[in-house]
Amino acid sequence: MSRSIALRHVSKKYDRGSYAVQDVSLMVEPGEFLVLLGPSGCGKSTVLRMIAGLEHISEGELFLDGVHSNETPPHQRDTAMVFQNFALYPSMTTRENIGFPLKLRDPAADHGPQVEATARMLAIEDLLERLPGQLSGGERQRVAMGRAVSRRPSVFLFDEPLSNLDAKLPEHLRAEISSLTKELGVTTVYVTHDQSEAMSLGDRVAVLREGVLQQISSPEELYTLPANVFVAAFVGTPRINLLEAVVHAPLDARMALNLGRQSLALPVPLSADHQLLRVQQGRPVIVGLRSEAVRIAPPSEARPGEAALTGLVEHVEYQGHEVLVHLNTGSRPAVVPDPETARPRFPASRRRVPRPPGPGRVRVFPARRKSRPPIVSGGPSATAAQERRTTVGSDLVVRTGPQGRVRSGAQVPLLVDLAQLYVFDHRGRRICPAPDDVPGLD
Ligand SMILES: Nc1ncnc2c1ncn2[C@@H]1O[C@H](COP(=O)(O)OP(=O)(O)OP(=O)(O)O)[C@@H](O)[C@H]1O
Ligand SMILES: [Mg+2]
Repeated sequence: MSRSIALRHVSKKYDRGSYAVQDVSLMVEPGEFLVLLGPSGCGKSTVLRMIAGLEHISEGELFLDGVHSNETPPHQRDTAMVFQNFALYPSMTTRENIGFPLKLRDPAADHGPQVEATARMLAIEDLLERLPGQLSGGERQRVAMGRAVSRRPSVFLFDEPLSNLDAKLPEHLRAEISSLTKELGVTTVYVTHDQSEAMSLGDRVAVLREGVLQQISSPEELYTLPANVFVAAFVGTPRINLLEAVVHAPLDARMALNLGRQSLALPVPLSADHQLLRVQQGRPVIVGLRSEAVRIAPPSEARPGEAALTGLVEHVEYQGHEVLVHLNTGSRPAVVPDPETARPRFPASRRRVPRPPGPGRVRVFPARRKSRPPIVSGGPSATAAQERRTTVGSDLVVRTGPQGRVRSGAQVPLLVDLAQLYVFDHRGRRICPAPDDVPGLD
């Protein structure tokens, strides 16, 4: 039996008054696999712990199968949680560890068959008589999972269960978790900061940033229609190219996105999405181009809907099946103001007074790294660093096949597929392709 989970306007405020989670609403259907994705400290574990009943909900409501459950004690929620730092009882064998929750529930019964069935499912039946000290990290994690699933809960809650394991193992375990939850048809909420894990496991992925839900969609939609520049930057490898641009929309000439030294001419007739950019005339925007949206080819080979640029090859990164070419096109990597949706540092009542925009609020979205804090610009040294970034090094990464022969130092022609162009406004929200709720122009 699996159940639905609904969060309605759920917030968590710790003692000092800042929100760890703010106004999160989401629904997990029975049997669905939902991944909570976001950088360190964004509130993923807090959401999970509120569902499990290990953390009190400050504001909002939790419904399990439609039943208001804010005050339901953890042991009555029928959830099983697997943590990052999974702990097995060191003096118990695998058999005893897996059987422990069953024994707690019904001390007199023989749980042998159920323990063995669980061990078979996880391919650890040969390890039943071993102690945790005699198991590898991956095997121990499987035993921890076995302990969670043995009593057939109706909800699984996984908190980064693979992040402590060495690099090779997780992919294998990932597949196992996925098939295990599918087989059991159990509603699953899985927390990770690893976007590739999220994309490969989730039926849907919910992206959190500073306690605020940014988007909840299928992995495909997250990649192709990111709601904002943060989601675009967080999802996908290599990271999406984000460039500062200004919309140039003269009445008597072609519309273009000015990238600094070069510009992207938009094709005529303008698509409905590109027409919507007209209102941004003269305004700074952020252009997003995934590495597959640009190819190295001369203008003579341009297909309809492609725009030409040139770039200086800074670095060529061989990956075996593909090559990543790092180019300098003379553009500025995007520096975007922190979207207003970011978590306020104060409770709602003190949030009324808007802070004026200033250099301290301008933030470069960092590469996806768990431990690295965002680069906040402001002050002379940051400006100098920013300046360096724009004049030295690459601003565009292009993916080519292994046959593509390019050399560092060469100037190469580029063709940009404008159908794969993203434009975000100055607050980081996607304006192109237009969101569903914005009517297109005819
Ligand atoms: N008991 C607590 N008291 C005060 N603040 C807390 C407490 N627990 C968590 N926080 C804060 O709440 C925010 C969210 O924490 P949470 O553990 O949910 O993040 P996370 O997304 O799981 O991060 P990680 O990926 O590092 O595990 C953080 O800023 C954290 O410092
Ligand atoms: Mg956590």
